[in-house]
Amino acid sequence: MPFPKGKRDWVSISEMGAVGKIDERRSFDVVGSIAIIEVPRGSGRKEKAVAEGILSMHSNIRTVVKKVGAHEGAFRIQKSKFIAGEKTKETVHRESGVLLKLDINRVYFSPRLSGERLRIASLVKRGERVLVMFSGCGPYPLVISRNSLAKEVVGIELNRKAHEYAEFNVKLNKLKNIILLNGDVRTEVKRLKGKFDRVVMPLPKGGELYLKESFSRVKKGGTIHFYVFLQEERIPEGGLELVSQELKPGKFRISRVVKCGQVAPRCYRVCFDIKIL
Ligand SMILES: C[S@@+](CC[C@H](N)C(=O)[O-])C[C@H]1O[C@@H](n2cnc3c(N)ncnc32)[C@H](O)[C@@H]1O
Repeated sequence: MPFPKGKRDWVSISEMGAVGKIDERRSFDVVGSIAIIEVPRGSGRKEKAVAEGILSMHSNIRTVVKKVGAHEGAFRIQKSKFIAGEKTKETVHRESGVLLKLDINRVYFSPRLSGERLRIASLVKRGERVLVMFSGCGPYPLVISRNSLAKEVVGIELNRKAHEYAEFNVKLNKLKNIILLNGDVRTEVKRLKGKFDRVVMPLPKGGELYLKESFSRVKKGGTIHFYVFLQEERIPEGGLELVSQELKPGKFRISRVVKCGQVAPRCYRVCFDIKIL
């Protein structure tokens, strides 16, 4: 059994005071100076008034947009539509000591994962080599680099625009131990030299298809952080089933299961910290 017997085997990130909290009651996300609101169907006429209200109450917000549709395609992008304020989609977001420039319509980014990113950074020990698959505009590589003593952080990202922002962000933050590759994880991992102490896999929809690549690059004694969306009643069994399809029994142990944010009613983004034996 890969879980320690008799112990509660998952913990919610909002219980982890030391690594920050996710405020799940907030009704809109703020990325840099942009507020992203959800407008229920049929309340179209009220949205302008709501947006004006947000602008007048929050001096740090200069633009209000509304979500249009869900996260889509390989790049996991969610489109948004301008409502009020300054007409821009590009902003600079501040998180855990780093600045992240991005275009909210061309790059995946969620400010709700800041606590989880800091949790991962807090686990990184001096001298570690860390591989971040699906690195986007760089939040995981940059937060890890800034908040740990990692020797090297490598990021791989398919979306060219996200990769370009990540390159820009590394320079903006003057971080020296980050290497970024633009391409498909499956191809790019083959070009990497050596193994890693830690592999982070922040692709909760379909990430299990890359567990083989992740396993091939992690050292014995190292850790894989595997993210997946799960219905509440499927935590942790649903994730364990996916991991067991790729990793042989006796070769791994789940050291922790972390609920890191609700994404739909009774559905969570869950991180499995997998120790490689
Ligand atoms: C859920 S987003 C996470 C981005 C970033 N890590 C973050 O936390 O903001 C997943 C990212 O994986 C990228 N992606 C999807 N498939 C990929 C693949 N096969 N190889 C590399 N990157 C991929 C997408 O473009 C997207 O930026």
